[in-house]
Amino acid sequence: MKKVIGILAGSLRKESFSKKVSRALVGFAPEGFEFRIIDVSNIPIYNQDFDDENQVPQAIARFRSEMAAVEGVIFVTPEYNRSVPGVLKNAIDVGSRPYGKSVWDKKPAAIFSNSPGNLSAFGANHHLRQSLVFLNMPAMQQPEVYISHVSDLFDDEGNMKDGTTKDFIKKAVESYIEWYSKNAL
Ligand code: FNR
Repeated sequence: MKKVIGILAGSLRKESFSKKVSRALVGFAPEGFEFRIIDVSNIPIYNQDFDDENQVPQAIARFRSEMAAVEGVIFVTPEYNRSVPGVLKNAIDVGSRPYGKSVWDKKPAAIFSNSPGNLSAFGANHHLRQSLVFLNMPAMQQPEVYISHVSDLFDDEGNMKDGTTKDFIKKAVESYIEWYSKNAL
């Protein structure tokens, strides 16, 4: 049976670069692995009342059960105001509750941050790492994946262009898989 790795993109935008990176990653899954995009677009804003199983919105129940089926996670995050976009933070919060039933616990993670600018969403990458510590998700340390100038990475059809950045991303995926195999619990 294939190991399933969830890919979560932190953007709702139709032409999102994070979504394009996520779609490209699906094609980089090695044999024995499935990289599965998990849609976070319809998850309601977390409300602690949803911890009552009689009050869980359907979209949240669906997200939690989709996440329960994955064994590792690659977060593809842009940066909003030097931090993690709300849509991704909300997905993290929703998945972390009810207390003791987190969908994130012990799942090996990698963070691929990206920006059209120079700084490659470093701030979002590291804020996300802080949450992963609390969520008990081991996070790949090296290589750190900071993708700058992501707007130059795709052709008009949304395909990742060949070149050093694509090679780096493919190598980072290989490193994640190798590291995952040692860290999966
Ligand atoms: C941004 N952007 C941005 N970029 C960056 O490198 N650092 C930042 O702190 C911010 N802050 C920020 C805040 C808000 C509210 C928006 C809308 C945008 C620009 C951002 O990187 C750019 O819009 C990306 O294209 C967003 O990612 P997606 O949607 O392409 O995946």
